[in-house]
Amino acid sequence: MRDISASKDLVVRRVHSGDQNDICDHFLRLDVGSRRSRFFGAVSDAGVLKYARNVIRYDSVAGGAFVGGQLRGLVELSGLFHSWPSTAEAAFSVETDWQNIGIGDALFEQMFAMAQNRRVRTVQMTCLKENSHMRHLAAKHNAQLLFDADAVEAVLYPNWPTPGSIAKEMIAQTREYSHLLFRQACKNRLPKDSQ
Ligand SMILES: CC(C)(COP(=O)(O)OP(=O)(O)OC[C@H]1O[C@@H](n2cnc3c(N)ncnc32)[C@H](O)[C@@H]1OP(=O)(O)O)[C@@H](O)C(=O)NCCC(=O)NCCS
Repeated sequence: MRDISASKDLVVRRVHSGDQNDICDHFLRLDVGSRRSRFFGAVSDAGVLKYARNVIRYDSVAGGAFVGGQLRGLVELSGLFHSWPSTAEAAFSVETDWQNIGIGDALFEQMFAMAQNRRVRTVQMTCLKENSHMRHLAAKHNAQLLFDADAVEAVLYPNWPTPGSIAKEMIAQTREYSHLLFRQACKNRLPKDSQ
């Protein structure tokens, strides 16, 4: 059982090249289901590593969610500067054991601020049609959902930058998540059929 006593704070901040090893480890920890949802199919460890080493690029920016100092969730905003008005693609990954405690929500806010600060006019997110969790997250943040045969595209239109959006990106945001982690720990202790 994970010791949650030392990891009650969730810190969300921009990640840099110095976080590269953490980014690789985070992607490697994604289980089969989360990898499939994130990459739209099965991906080997080697494939995941190849991808992870290319996350920080001149045309992308990423935000990380750290619990007890360990990277547990990531949002990437890529394709910046490829077009004008700017359109970027956002993608999320939260490790399975850390899902459902609000990390995706916090990363969504970080991603929106990062997009705003780069004057991105359109953010696109694509997920598998059966990915109701991601669809819920996108809809909760007022994204427009467009359904295809197998996939769903969620679209957002950020506003211009504000002092608040700049501060959100520059200053690591800390949230007190002890109550949610406590709830999750209780859930983990319960037999599956009683949840
Ligand atoms: C999708 C994902 C990013 C969400 O992250 P998360 O940290 O678990 O999200 P949150 O904890 O902020 O979301 C919790 C919310 O989702 C809801 N939820 C949980 N499971 C759900 C499901 N199967 N269907 C619909 N809603 C669901 C919860 O009820 C909660 O709703 P509320 O905030 O309105 O109370 C995460 O599950 C993930 O990384 N999945 C694998 C990769 C992936 O699918 N990426 C998206 C494609 S790029």
